[in-house]
This record gives sequence, C-alpha cells and structure tokens, in this order.
Amino acid sequence: MTMLNAAQIRQPLSGTPGAQLDLLEVFAEIGSTNSYLLDSPAPLPGRFRVALAEHQTAGRGRMDRKWQSPPSSGLCLSMSYTFHEVPKYLPSVTLAIGVGVAEALGQMGIRGIGLKWPNDLVVRDGKLGGILTEIRSSQGKAVTVVIGVGINVDLGRTGATEVIRPRIGYASDIASCIKEVPSRSVLSAALIEKMFNTLAQFEAGGFGPYFEAWERFDWLRGQRVSVEQPDGQASGVCQGIDVDGALILRTETGTERIVSGSVSLHGQQGDIL
Ligand code: BTN
Repeated sequence: MTMLNAAQIRQPLSGTPGAQLDLLEVFAEIGSTNSYLLDSPAPLPGRFRVALAEHQTAGRGRMDRKWQSPPSSGLCLSMSYTFHEVPKYLPSVTLAIGVGVAEALGQMGIRGIGLKWPNDLVVRDGKLGGILTEIRSSQGKAVTVVIGVGINVDLGRTGATEVIRPRIGYASDIASCIKEVPSRSVLSAALIEKMFNTLAQFEAGGFGPYFEAWERFDWLRGQRVSVEQPDGQASGVCQGIDVDGALILRTETGTERIVSGSVSLHGQQGDIL
C-alpha cells in the first residue's frame, strides 16, 4: 500500500480548512495520535492541527479499549480543534463527526455505511472504524477537543486480518465495499476537510442538523440491544436518538435515555456488533 504523504494530504485543503490548519504531521510510528495531540499545544479558537500515523503502538479506543490495526492498513487520524466556548451538548460532537465521516466516505463512492451509537462506523455488518473524542484543556471560555478516527482501509492484504478479527468480532474494510480503493492520502484529505467543516458548523449551529442526518445512518434503530452503563445494564429496542445525542431505548418499563454506555446487539457478546 502507498505510504501516507503529508504534502499530498495538505495540497487539496483550500478555503477555510486550508487557512485554519496550523500543522499537519505524518508519523511512521507513534504511540497514539490522540495522545500526541493531547500533549501538543492547543490551537487558537477556530484553528486546528492534524496528526496521522502509519502505525500506532498504543492506539486507544473508547472506554479504555485498545485500537489495534496492522501498519499501513488503514487511517489513524487525529484532529485537535479549539471551540471559542463550550458548545451546547458537547458529547454529541462525536455523533456529528460520525455523520460527517459517513457522508465524506459516501461521496467517495463507499456506500452502505451505518453509524452505531455513539461512535462506531459500520459497513456490511462489520466494524469499519471508530471515533474517539477527548477534551484536551480549557483556557478561559475556550475548549479544545481531540477527535481521533480509525478506519480500516484494506485489511485483507496485510495478512493480519485474523489477528484483529477475533478481538473485535467482525471487522470490515473499505476494500470490501469498493472496486478502486482511493489512496489513504486522498481519503485523509477528504476526511480532514469534512471533519473541520463539521466542527465549524457544530460550533455555529449546534447538533440540530446532525440530529436529523443521524437518522439516515442509524444502524441501531429498531434493533434489540443490551447497554452496559457505568451504573448498570439496560435492555430494550433502540428508538433513535434525542436532540442532545442520547440514545433512546424502549424498555419493558418505559423509555430510557442513555447518555453513555456500550451497546451490544441482543444475544451477542462484546460491545461491537
Ligand atoms: C473506538 O472504536 O472505540 C474508537 C477508535 C479510535 C481509534 C483512533 S485511531 C487515531 C486515534 N488515535 C488513537 O489512539 N485512537 C484514535
């Protein structure tokens, strides 16, 4: 697979994303691109930084899980962005980015992408990728978020599919949904532009537009699930999301709003699918 190329990734970024980008770095190997940006200087409000890696040795997922992907098999991309002030419903930014990433991939011909609340990208009933949002720091009213996106681009040719499949249930990749897989640099540029625009729009207009768009991608709607929450377990049928991004679950005793948790399809083990 062709290596990531910083100049090729940066070159198509024009307009506001090009002007607001402070720094874009590509690492051959790093612990975690999210951790790296969490330790780096925060961009000024409205500006952003990007870190990408061919390989992460300590990639992280949501809820203290690991994100492991064979070298150069996918995208390990993190963006730090500073909001002028803490946006309303900040946790829903993960859902907004999910919508943005799904739309960007759809525009590149990768069809059939679903979003599994709150942070998984699904295709062909397998996990295509995930999103990890972390709050970096607060200075005055401003707040910096680091948003990491991991996407499987081509697992088959790495020969390492078996290493990760048993760990996460079933993994899918872009190569299994499209004949001509765009280069990872092209994919990165498209995702960076979309992620920046999503953050800027989220800052200006809130979660509303993404709340409506979520329905188009909602992979859980109508599914019977179990949810592991910090304070216990809930089971029921998914009814979509609320205006603040909470998952709505119809249980035997009524309707519950889930703000944080790990969702597994009823009768299956593990939280992924
Ligand atoms: C998840 O599925 O729980 C989220 C996975 C997020 C993985 C990405 S890869 C780039 C960035 N760096 C990390 O350490 N994690 C995120």
